[in-house]
Amino acid sequence: MNTRIITIDGPAGAGKTTVSRMLSKKLGCVYVDTGALYRGVAYEIQRQGIDWENDEVLDDFLKHLDLNFLMENDRLILISSGRDITNFIRTPDISMLASASSAKPQVRAALLGIQRNIAKTKDAVFEGRDMGTVVFPDAVHKFFLFADLCIRAKRRNDEMPDETKDIKLVQEEMKIRDGKDSQRKTAPLKPAEDAIKIDSSFLTIEQVVEKMVKCIEKA
Ligand code: DC
Repeated sequence: MNTRIITIDGPAGAGKTTVSRMLSKKLGCVYVDTGALYRGVAYEIQRQGIDWENDEVLDDFLKHLDLNFLMENDRLILISSGRDITNFIRTPDISMLASASSAKPQVRAALLGIQRNIAKTKDAVFEGRDMGTVVFPDAVHKFFLFADLCIRAKRRNDEMPDETKDIKLVQEEMKIRDGKDSQRKTAPLKPAEDAIKIDSSFLTIEQVVEKMVKCIEKA
């Protein structure tokens, strides 16, 4: 079966999630947030107290890992060994641990099959860091979404209205995570050579989606 796969990569806070959701709705396909899988790994590492820097321990942990997505309309539910963990994976601790543990090649290898299996049967918009470079190098429509660091930090801060967060701290955490994600050896965050790069700093979500739809229709 030939499915239509659209990849959207980019750093944290560039607007990937909102854009991917809106684009998938417009195109009538599913939306897959691959960061949630890395967050799921980090959540389980933290919950089970796994010494993930020890390769043997990590390999054993990954053997027993059972992560998958349930798709409920436009809501993605992350299931770990039968348990819904969607609401536990968005903390700053998990963000940092997801970024650090995602540098391990065996973590990336363990999640590759899950991502590619979804793509076998469904048209989808895949959001992540290495969608266009590693997971779906043959995707016809590839985008790389980015924005100025201070704008990304402000967006992220606005998403957490209930928490008193220091915007400088959010910016600092983002910078550290960007550095880790783009400097790791395996599947670093970078645009695929054939990706269309979009700077979302001064664009609305609708404008970004509009640009993408035009590119897709033109191809
Ligand atoms: O997209 P996100 O912020 O939820 O992702 C959390 C972390 O997971 C991110 O800092 C790096 C990692 N990640 C990755 O390495 N590859 C992906 N395709 C998606 C996320």
